[in-house]
Order: sequence, then structure tokens, then C-alpha cells
Amino acid sequence: MLPVPRLPSLIAWTTLLLAASTAAAEAERDQVGAMPQNLDDHEFINAVAIDDPENPLHGFHHFYVNDAGMEAFRQGGPYPVGTEFVGLIYEITRDGPIRNEGEGKAIALMEKVEGAEETGGWRFALLAPDGSAHEIDPVKDCFECHTEVRERDFVFSQPHHVGELGWTPK
Ligand code: HEC
Repeated sequence: MLPVPRLPSLIAWTTLLLAASTAAAEAERDQVGAMPQNLDDHEFINAVAIDDPENPLHGFHHFYVNDAGMEAFRQGGPYPVGTEFVGLIYEITRDGPIRNEGEGKAIALMEKVEGAEETGGWRFALLAPDGSAHEIDPVKDCFECHTEVRERDFVFSQPHHVGELGWTPK
């Protein structure tokens, strides 16, 4: 006779594990910002490809901004608290002259928060696809480069348009 799966204890374990991972995710959110649940209130604004495999930022980067930051994005900043930029970073696959998105490899976040004076009011985070945070030094690894565009509130991306059609909705 087959062993009967011990369902009640399985469920108890799953519940425990879920509770633990939710608590961990909440603790992480306080420190470094968390993965957005979805991109429903975000718009795609910009893309860049860094094609040198030696570069730590190698990959296709697709950037999104949430509704809270959209108007400021059109104006070139400054950004209100609650603005969130999300970068989805994909591996680059090569097939002759074609470069395409491969596996999703990381998520870059910039979130405008109260405080965070060291980083211009932005919380920078780099997350693995499962939402866990990579250990980074937000000042050295992120902010110092972003100071190049201090006058746009540290945001590089700008609205793009082809004729009347743009990646930045009007
Ligand atoms: C060497 C310079 C450099 C470093 C280091 C860097 N970035 Fe950026 N980042 C850029 C550039 C350039 C863009 C805009 C890309 C483009 O031209 O489309 C950008 C764009 C972004 C955006 C979209 C908003 C914007 O400014 O356009 C986010 C979010 C972001 N970076 C997060 C990060 C995080 C998190 C880190 C650290 C892990 C980081 N960046 C490190 C240069 C850098």
C-alpha cells in the first residue's frame, strides 16, 4: 500500500515557510526597496543595451516609471516622493548581427523616499529575479555615476519620440 501523504503537516510547513518568507521580504523592503508586485501603474520609457560582457551592467535594460513620477519625467525632474523607476535587465543573446533579450537577470530600482540624503533622496537597489537583494554599496555602485545628471534629479532617461509616437505617453 502506498504511504498516505501527511497532508496536514505539509500544509503547516508551507504556511510556516510562507510566513517566514513574507517577514523576510518585509524586512528587506525596509532596507533596500522591494520588487514591485506588478507594473500595472508603470509605463515603459526607455531602453539601453550594454553589449560588453566584461561590464557589470551588461545586458538589455528596459526602464519603466510609475504614475507618481510620470509628469516629472516629462519635465526632466525634480521627482516627488513615491516615484519609482524600474529597470528590467535581460541577458543579451547573439545570432549573427542580431542581439536579443535572453534570460531575465536582474531588476534595478530607484525609489524617491524621505531622507536618503547620501544618495540624492533616491533609494537604489539591485534585485535578483526572485526579488532577493544583491549586496551593493548604493553610493559607490550606483549613485556616483548617476551624479552625472544631477540637474535632472539624478535620472538619466529622457522622453523619446519618433514623430508623434513616443515611448512616453502624453
Ligand atoms: C556607470 C554609470 C552607471 C552606474 C554605475 C549605474 N547606473 Fe543606473 N543608469 C545609468 C545610465 C546611463 C542610465 C540610462 C540608460 C539609458 O541611456 O537609457 C541609467 C538608468 C537607471 C535607471 C532608470 C532611471 C534613469 O536614471 O534613467 C535606474 C532605475 C538605474 N539606472 C538604477 C541603477 C542602480 C540600482 C545602480 C546600481 C546597482 C545603477 N543604476 C548604477 C548609468 C549608471
